Amino acid sequence: MLRRRIQWLTILLTCALGWMTSTASAQDKPVDVSVTVRADEPGPTINPNIYGQFAEHLGAGIYEGVWVGEDSDIPNTNGYRNDVIAALRDLKVPVVRWPGGCFADEYHWRDGIGPREKRPVKVNTHWGGVPETNAFGTHEFMTFAEMIGAKVYISGNVGSGTVQEMADWLEYLTSDTVSTLANERRKNGREKPWDVHFFGIGNETWGCGGNMRPEYYADLFRQYATYIKTPPGKRPKIIASGGHDDGTRWVEVLTTQVERDLDGISHHYYTIPSGVWEKKGNSTGFGEDEWISTLKNTMRIDEFIKNNVAILDKNDPEGKIGFYVDEWGTWYDPEPGREPGFLYQQNTLRDALVAAINLNIFHHHARRVHMTNIAQMVNVLQAMILTDGPRMALTPTYHVFHMYRPFQGATFLPTDDSTPRYTHGDVSVPAVSVSAARDSEGKIQLALANLDPNREAVVRTNLRGAQAKSASGRLLTAKQMDARNTVDEPENVKPTTLSAKRDGNAVVVKLPPKSVAVVQLQ
Ligand code: AHR
Repeated sequence: MLRRRIQWLTILLTCALGWMTSTASAQDKPVDVSVTVRADEPGPTINPNIYGQFAEHLGAGIYEGVWVGEDSDIPNTNGYRNDVIAALRDLKVPVVRWPGGCFADEYHWRDGIGPREKRPVKVNTHWGGVPETNAFGTHEFMTFAEMIGAKVYISGNVGSGTVQEMADWLEYLTSDTVSTLANERRKNGREKPWDVHFFGIGNETWGCGGNMRPEYYADLFRQYATYIKTPPGKRPKIIASGGHDDGTRWVEVLTTQVERDLDGISHHYYTIPSGVWEKKGNSTGFGEDEWISTLKNTMRIDEFIKNNVAILDKNDPEGKIGFYVDEWGTWYDPEPGREPGFLYQQNTLRDALVAAINLNIFHHHARRVHMTNIAQMVNVLQAMILTDGPRMALTPTYHVFHMYRPFQGATFLPTDDSTPRYTHGDVSVPAVSVSAARDSEGKIQLALANLDPNREAVVRTNLRGAQAKSASGRLLTAKQMDARNTVDEPENVKPTTLSAKRDGNAVVVKLPPKSVAVVQLQ
């Protein structure tokens, strides 16, 4: 009996040991991926505006984050933080969407012009119920955009505004006549009219922007768009408020019920680790379950874009209407001890992976995706920059946007890849996310993200229709899944040089676990 028991125990132990070694070796073994870049089949231009930002009057997004006022001890130029402006200039932000968001449908532009001490103080009912001083208004925003070299995307108020109010705002901004509104702009310090590149008619009109039905909004869109009058050649692209998540109805209704003035339809999708709004998950201190669920959830944008693009292709075969993902990014539970309405959250290596995955997906849809705006630029949700008093930290997301700069305006190149899957528990995603493009200097840019937090990926890339004599790149990774930068440790997560090996006409890149790389082949 005892002998039998010992035998069983030995078998069990051997099995357990075998399982452990096989798991350990499977984990250690790099993932092999082969990629073919079809350089001989160039696709559409990757619109630089895919790298757009969103800045709302929300928490410390504008006040503190961008605007501190001329009297602040924080080093500033005419009220704008020097450190933030320099970092954003370096990022080559192509376009900024402002003033909201939900805030836009309660914003009355006249509150934000004229002498600052005379501007009315309102309540920011959406975001924490805090006073809105209107110190940052039209002139401040337009100057800010000029300072960082970005185009402007203004969201007009449909929810609580009027057609007249919207029409007046456009006249105030763009008129070169001697109209009373144009002269008022001059009196307030701006002689020359501004260019307004994009104008949104409302925001989330299905929700905070008025709780409308798409059919009702389609009529409002037609009415509001009729009165957007600007000097010849200065008409902004007009963007309709569209749907969110897996919705397609807004695109269906707008493309069948609006015959003119429609340059783009907006869509919003936020990545939530749990997929449940009420209990989203934390921005730090998460385990591998939440790592993979976040990445899986963020990839859903691919299917959402495909479904909406299919409708656009059916109803707008000439391809005039763009799909504008003008709010996207991660959204976590509020940080303990902070005002929940300020949507301040930490930003970690996981956010860097989210950014890279989304940008790769947007590149693949460059034909219809004409703009995206990550939410939000500073101190709110998946921010580029987090400030703390006079100091700031660039987030891992900032670094991804920085590394991806050569993709702005580049020509998309299709790729085929053989990536295995990374599986954790019952969740599985492709281990490596890929996109490629030919930049304005003719170099091939390859963006890679290794989603697996445990295994290195060895990516062997072949070029079809091109030759690479050299390869070099930048890599972003860290030891911890939730590694982040703080004002005390601002360089915890930052890009390093990546070496790539040439092997015949192939280029071999070793991607550490949980990393993002951009490689230049020339
Ligand atoms: O980005 C935060 C909010 O999310 C925006 O104000 C709104 O449009 C969306 O619901």
